[in-house]
Amino acid sequence: MCGIVGYIGESQAAPILLEGLSKLEYRGYDSAGIAVYDGENIKVQKAVGRLKVLSEMTHDGATMQGVVGIGHTRWATHGAPSNTNAHPHYNQAETIVVVHNGIIENYMKLRKRLETKGYQFLSETDTEVVAHLLDYYYKGEPLEAITKIMHRVEGSYALGIIFKDHPEQVYAVRKDSPLIVGHGKDGNLIASDVPAVLKYTRNVYFILNEEIAVLTKETIGFYNVDGEEIQKECTTIDWDINAAEKGGYEHFMLKEMYEQPQTVRDTLNPRIKEGSIVIEELGMSDEEIQKISKIHIVACGSAYHVGVTAKYVFEGMARIPVEVDLASEFRYRNPILEKDALVIIISQSGETADSLAALREAKIRGVKTLGIVNVVGSSIAREADKVMYTWAGPEIAVATTKAYSAQLIATYLLAVKFAQVRGEVLEEEVTGILKDLQKLPEQIEMLLSHKEKIQRFANRYIAAKDVFFVGRGIDYAISMEGSLKLKEISYIHSEAYAAGELKHGTISLIEEGTLVAAVVTQEDLYKKTISNIVELRSRGAFVLAVTNTGNTEIQKAADYVIYIPQTNRYFTNSLAIIPLQLFSYYVSVGKGCDVDKPRNLAKSVTVE
Ligand code: AGP
Repeated sequence: MCGIVGYIGESQAAPILLEGLSKLEYRGYDSAGIAVYDGENIKVQKAVGRLKVLSEMTHDGATMQGVVGIGHTRWATHGAPSNTNAHPHYNQAETIVVVHNGIIENYMKLRKRLETKGYQFLSETDTEVVAHLLDYYYKGEPLEAITKIMHRVEGSYALGIIFKDHPEQVYAVRKDSPLIVGHGKDGNLIASDVPAVLKYTRNVYFILNEEIAVLTKETIGFYNVDGEEIQKECTTIDWDINAAEKGGYEHFMLKEMYEQPQTVRDTLNPRIKEGSIVIEELGMSDEEIQKISKIHIVACGSAYHVGVTAKYVFEGMARIPVEVDLASEFRYRNPILEKDALVIIISQSGETADSLAALREAKIRGVKTLGIVNVVGSSIAREADKVMYTWAGPEIAVATTKAYSAQLIATYLLAVKFAQVRGEVLEEEVTGILKDLQKLPEQIEMLLSHKEKIQRFANRYIAAKDVFFVGRGIDYAISMEGSLKLKEISYIHSEAYAAGELKHGTISLIEEGTLVAAVVTQEDLYKKTISNIVELRSRGAFVLAVTNTGNTEIQKAADYVIYIPQTNRYFTNSLAIIPLQLFSYYVSVGKGCDVDKPRNLAKSVTVE
């Protein structure tokens, strides 16, 4: 999604804006632009394509002199990627300039009204409406104009605004799209996400819905939608700044895959105390846990795949029925939620529009909600009744790896805890389960150390047209994630299938040499999946099997075998996914794709 940066202070604004925008590149974009007040006018420069183009055009910002500015990376929604549609957008007199993330849902209506009042529009964007509407309401007092448009505009927005008449201020406002304020030593900043300001400050304010921030070079004031001043607390960000940098790795995705052992430790260790699982943030008594009648897991993309795995784990271990929904479906399907149900929303960013809407839907229905979230202070983290953080740190690559692994761990912890409280596992079994959990980081390390083997295998499939991933039970859930990883970063068509379902249609797609990755980690299902592998090979498929150490039987059936270490049957996803992530990564590198920023994708999907 779009990225916003704003700066006001002692230094030149343009280089800071460009630098900040580069830290938001992971969000996905197809054009970029900056606006800087040069002492007389607000100057705008825009470019289609990578930020590099804008940097070259402005000599790294040197051609845009001034200490106040706003910048934007745009991910096209209304209107194609073009210079005209790129942000910032002016009012007609070029005295107000706006950058926007989100979607103004009633923009057509507003646009028509403004056109009847003589306003001329240059772009196809919904954002330009905001610039003209501000102009319409502006009578010399920016805050007043901003609060007025907040009552008129429907949809989601994070806005950065400069008024030429008030060049000593930058204005920021949000509703349902993320925006933060950084309080720096030599100036203040706004941004869509923390990494954009980390170079300048660790002191951050999270702007909440329908709040306005007014920044000068020294001060920051906050106001509500009625223009009344409000007080907000500053949060100190304690991330290591290197966590948001590549640190010598060729891509963020590779770095983040290598961070998985640590991520798993960080999510796990603080919650295992003296041999038992303690999830303080859950805030549920044993009685409440015993009363849970059903769990609904709601999420998008990879987080949804975590939910599919978690269904097997919760049902298998804790014997609690689980329904897993894509958030975009859940929010409109009028779900039946029992009063003792628990709704778990899983989200790395905590800002995914559909997941946030699903959370709100569950809350309206009076059901207890729990967010499993990575980004501290994000919307889902704030709005869920309870939040369990995955301590994965900033994830920059669009394709999730370490956040996915951390989410799996969070769900395992909950499942074991629930199983224990509900008497579904014996105390002595719990010791073994915890041992298996604590072994996962070093087992992941070991799997990562075999990257060359997987790279060599991946290089053979750079030209593949179709790849299939199959498995049964939890292995099907792993297949879904393996398939998504491959298609999103290598652009190779891929599908995941429940192994037993292939012969009901999909097997007709198998040709001589088609690659099928079969995940086979559930011992009681070995034989079943092996017979599916045999069916596939007899139709020409080349079968790569990912299975447990010791499953030698499979060598006769598959063409190539990757072994994962032994673990509890419910935790195999955490290990089997590693070779599949590496495979996708190396296919993408081999094809020369933009691994960290695949085409058409955004890290944080803040629109429906
Ligand atoms: C996975 O690699 C994707 N980037 C995507 O499917 C992602 O998991 C999904 O958009 C959900 O994002 P969230 O976890 O931030 O809510």
